[in-house]
Amino acid sequence: MSASLPQKALTPAALRARKGAEPIVCLTAYTAPMARLVDAHADLILVGDSLGMVVHGLPSTVGVTLEMMILHARAVRRAATRAVVVVDLPFGSYEAGPEAAFLSAARVMAETGCAAVKLEGGATMAPTIRFLVERGVPVMAHVGLLPQAVNVVGGYRVQGRGADAERVLADADAVAEAGAFAVVLEKVTEPLARRITEAVAIPTIGIGASPACDGQVLVLDDMLGLFADFRPSFVRRYAELGAAADAAIAAYAADVRARRFPGPEHTFPET
Ligand code: KIV
Repeated sequence: MSASLPQKALTPAALRARKGAEPIVCLTAYTAPMARLVDAHADLILVGDSLGMVVHGLPSTVGVTLEMMILHARAVRRAATRAVVVVDLPFGSYEAGPEAAFLSAARVMAETGCAAVKLEGGATMAPTIRFLVERGVPVMAHVGLLPQAVNVVGGYRVQGRGADAERVLADADAVAEAGAFAVVLEKVTEPLARRITEAVAIPTIGIGASPACDGQVLVLDDMLGLFADFRPSFVRRYAELGAAADAAIAAYAADVRARRFPGPEHTFPET
């Protein structure tokens, strides 16, 4: 296809139809400039509640609010032209029941123009997913490690090892049956990711879940190497932008301290 032809916008239904076919490329973005970069290459942009840690310096995703998600999602949506933009429903905005979830999801979709929401939880959340989908809200599910449940689970451990595999499989099955268009599998072993991917009719999107999935999602800032002190073992770094930014800021600071202020090419002429 010629680079000058406009790209058709993808939809949740189109991604759902990619099950078992071309792998689905997903990345997070929280701002318009990053969304513009990601949109050129990805099929799905996730406005993840990981923004609580990555952008706002929170200790977990638990403190993220619906208002924070909506603000970031609006910025991302303005920049995305082709990728499906999916917005995380934050902790506390959907667990009370299907009606509460619908009110939150409807706000997100109406106020941001984004195409779908994501929520965490398996069999327990299946009735809520069905309720949303039947009322016009495309849902991406999320099973395996559930970061919003960190205070119950007590950490970010690999899920579904040994006998626990059946629980995660049943969760994936339940959300697929409930009508989710895709499911994120977070931190599960490769054999389990393969079993789930073969068992469910919707695309599986792995994060720390091996290449056995139908697609992959990563936190953009992680794969760009923006943090020196945070290196999840499952993330391949495609750049070291944190180190590059540090060197650039250090060079700037040294210039200013040495009075090497901007030269004539960066200042305004008299006329
Ligand atoms: O919040 C997030 O970024 C996520 C991951 C799946 C990437 O939910």
